[in-house]
Amino acid sequence: MLSNPANARKGNRVAAAGMGIAVLGTVFLYQDGAGQRLGNYGWIFGGICVGALIGTLAARQVKMTAMPEMVSMFNGMGGLCAALISVVEFYYLVASENQAPGDTYGGPVVSGHLVIILLGLIIGSVSFSGSMIAWGKLNGKIKDRSFRGQHIINLLVLLAIATAAVYLVMQFQPLLSWLFGLILALALVYGLLFVLPIGGADMPVVISLLNSFTGVAAACGGFLYNNNVMLTGGILVGAAGTLLTILMCRAMNRSLANVLIGAFGGGNSGVLKAGAEQGAIKEISIPDAAIVMGYASRVLIVPGYGLAVAQAQHACHELERLLESRGVEVLYAIHPVAGRMPGHMNVLLAEADVSYDKLLEMEQANERFPQTDVVLVLGANDVVNPAAKTDPASPIYGMPVLEVEQAKTVIVNKRSMKPGYAGIDNALFSGPKTSMLFGDAKKVLQDLVTELKNS
Ligand code: TAP
Repeated sequence: MLSNPANARKGNRVAAAGMGIAVLGTVFLYQDGAGQRLGNYGWIFGGICVGALIGTLAARQVKMTAMPEMVSMFNGMGGLCAALISVVEFYYLVASENQAPGDTYGGPVVSGHLVIILLGLIIGSVSFSGSMIAWGKLNGKIKDRSFRGQHIINLLVLLAIATAAVYLVMQFQPLLSWLFGLILALALVYGLLFVLPIGGADMPVVISLLNSFTGVAAACGGFLYNNNVMLTGGILVGAAGTLLTILMCRAMNRSLANVLIGAFGGGNSGVLKAGAEQGAIKEISIPDAAIVMGYASRVLIVPGYGLAVAQAQHACHELERLLESRGVEVLYAIHPVAGRMPGHMNVLLAEADVSYDKLLEMEQANERFPQTDVVLVLGANDVVNPAAKTDPASPIYGMPVLEVEQAKTVIVNKRSMKPGYAGIDNALFSGPKTSMLFGDAKKVLQDLVTELKNS
């Protein structure tokens, strides 16, 4: 159900209900080998209530454009939980060893247990601190930072973590608890160092990767407690996160290594450099744009991040209906990384009841542009930038883009000549077929609707 927008909400509800049953089953039906039930119901349900309240309030209040930040924050909390499970279980192991050295757990059992505890600790902590940095970058509080030799330092920290973890497993004794603390601290530092240099535009890929880390860390908890729900849930998240990471990299035509090391795009793009090679641009007025679209036989709308910022999806749907009532075929061209999160445009347009069969994927849209009279670009920039095909020096070179310049006429709506997320110029705006329609997307669409109604 989740793989189709029409059923996705239902799929989410089924998944949530399934998880609810699994949690209640674990809490009330679980018995350990000695027949003991969980107990601690006050703590468990107290925690569930506090968490559910915070989660519900946050999810209700979040703006669509701030969704990636929230996903990152929630993912970080998952990583932290997994790491805390490891901390608790480590000290439980230490206490057991102190009480009855050697015979509470046999050597191999302790080692096996410890490997899982350490994996959960390391992966969970990296996911936690990395997600916090990703959260800060997405809301503009943290800037991209890299320094010379950063990758070497990252590698050394990773090596130190691995060495300390192996030593602790081989030589485990309660006296070595400080080493456990050191591994925790190093893993947190590694999470920071790992995400800090990665470019702002690549954050969704990083979040998806960290999401899969959190899944694996939670699955470690499932091993520790012999709990199949936790194990299955963790593996599901791990696998889905990995697949999404791969799909996003493919959509940008880049390798994961390039994303992690490439430092692409800045979170806070500046104004276009004065005198940049941007050619002369033509502007179009609202009445002229309305006429051009009103007399077209096919209009393709390209929504982008600006449409989400302006919350113009309803006005956009109204324009679509009005044009269709005049016999114009209207379709939407959806780029896989338009906006700021996977499926951003689909969710946005679904909110305004735009029919799913009007949404064309990038490949289908690119086939249709040559037979399209007018392309209306609404707050999109990078996803229609021809430099991705023509300029090997461009940071987005190789990313598949919507080839809107193939259409007969292109109308681009944005507020100024500022660049998009990747912080680069866009030659489309000065192209021979392009006219700029400046203004806030919502206002412009409302004006177009009024103009069409009156004409
Ligand atoms: P962008 O390249 O970010 O361009 C958005 C454009 O919208 C800006 O140039 C801005 O220009 C305009 N805009 C902003 N507010 C507006 C408003 N109220 N009304 C009208 N226009 C407005 O967006 P895109 O083309 O959708 O590309 C997405 C970019 O984000 C890609 O680089 C992608 O890699 C990256 N990214 C994607 C994701 C995912 S997974 N979807 C997540 C994070 C980052 P003005 O300021 O001049 O108005």
